[in-house]
Amino acid sequence: MKGMKIGVDFGSYSLRMCTESNQNAVDEMSAAAFSSDSGEPIVYGRRADVLDGRTDTDISVTKMIKNGVISDFTYAEKILTAYFSRVCGARIYKPNVLITLPFDVTNIEKKIFLDAVTRAGAGRACLVEGILASALGVGISQEKVGGRMIIDLGHQTTEIGIVSMGTVAAGATVRHGSFDIDSAIIRHLKKDRDIIIGIHTAKLIKHKIASAVKRECETSIMTSGKSGIDDMPISFEVTSTEIFPFVDEQISSLISEIHSHLQNISPELLSDAADHGITLCGGGALLFDIAERFEKELDIRCSVAENPEKARISGIYQIMKNREILENNGYQFIFKDNIRDRLKKYDKI
Ligand SMILES: Nc1ncnc2c1ncn2[C@@H]1O[C@H](COP(=O)(O)OP(=O)(O)OP(=O)(O)O)[C@@H](O)[C@H]1O
Ligand SMILES: [Mg+2]
Repeated sequence: MKGMKIGVDFGSYSLRMCTESNQNAVDEMSAAAFSSDSGEPIVYGRRADVLDGRTDTDISVTKMIKNGVISDFTYAEKILTAYFSRVCGARIYKPNVLITLPFDVTNIEKKIFLDAVTRAGAGRACLVEGILASALGVGISQEKVGGRMIIDLGHQTTEIGIVSMGTVAAGATVRHGSFDIDSAIIRHLKKDRDIIIGIHTAKLIKHKIASAVKRECETSIMTSGKSGIDDMPISFEVTSTEIFPFVDEQISSLISEIHSHLQNISPELLSDAADHGITLCGGGALLFDIAERFEKELDIRCSVAENPEKARISGIYQIMKNREILENNGYQFIFKDNIRDRLKKYDKI
């Protein structure tokens, strides 16, 4: 197959790409800032995300992925084009792109992903179940017989999978993620303290002082926002104890959704997987004490993967380098013109 291979994890928060020689070819944010008048992009990635909520009406910021699927095709194509050409440089042949998707996307959603990567310059494209990549990325090897359970806690989605002998034996996607905690913090400060904050401040509060289990030693940060009374800037302190009930509520509802999906899994597969414990990955797994909370509520041993936010791209990197994994799972790089016909073959994912 001519052309280099590029692996893509296109999340609602992060955009990561790897090549066969570089696991971290792109480590960016899924955001584009564009001129509201012309619609032309100005910057992509982290530099665009920083502008979110900080620009006048001339510049808008968009996130192209919502709940795991492409919600803004135009900018999804543009950001992929920009990063593909950065990764490929002056190469003559078009790249072959492998991109991961949530477990239960529809055929139409798959086609939109395929269209986006091919219009962005891919010669051929290959769709892969994201949860399999995450499993390989946390070290669940493809030879392992008997299920191993993984939960990938993303920004807007949470994926659950049981992987056995290198294939996904059971899986589900919950349309809730770490972003719900940011929203809950914003709502609490507005409702209970009349303080208006933006998404960057909410994220900072989450990263610095939120926890999945109530902290024994309270911690706090000073941050700033806008008073809801006089619309003037305000500096304020927020503590871990104050926000815990709102974080707690989000985690409880996420775990109860996960629990209901686990109940649908066959008893042998579930008990087998439970014996080996659950590995948590995705950026949401960086929340303080998340494994302890999951372990307590699901009554299954839990641990957080090393570098959880990079688990999926690490698995994509392994899949790209290992033809056996591609073949075992029926994954194929297909040409754009064959997309419509071949889409039927992707019913499995
Ligand atoms: N230290 C931290 N504590 C808590 N949350 C964190 C921390 N670091 C990152 N996160 C959260 O992880 C999320 C991003 O995770 P990730 O990159 O896995 O998302 P994504 O793959 O883009 O999302 P999705 O898979 O849902 O489309 C963000 O909500 C971010 O705030
Ligand atoms: Mg993700």
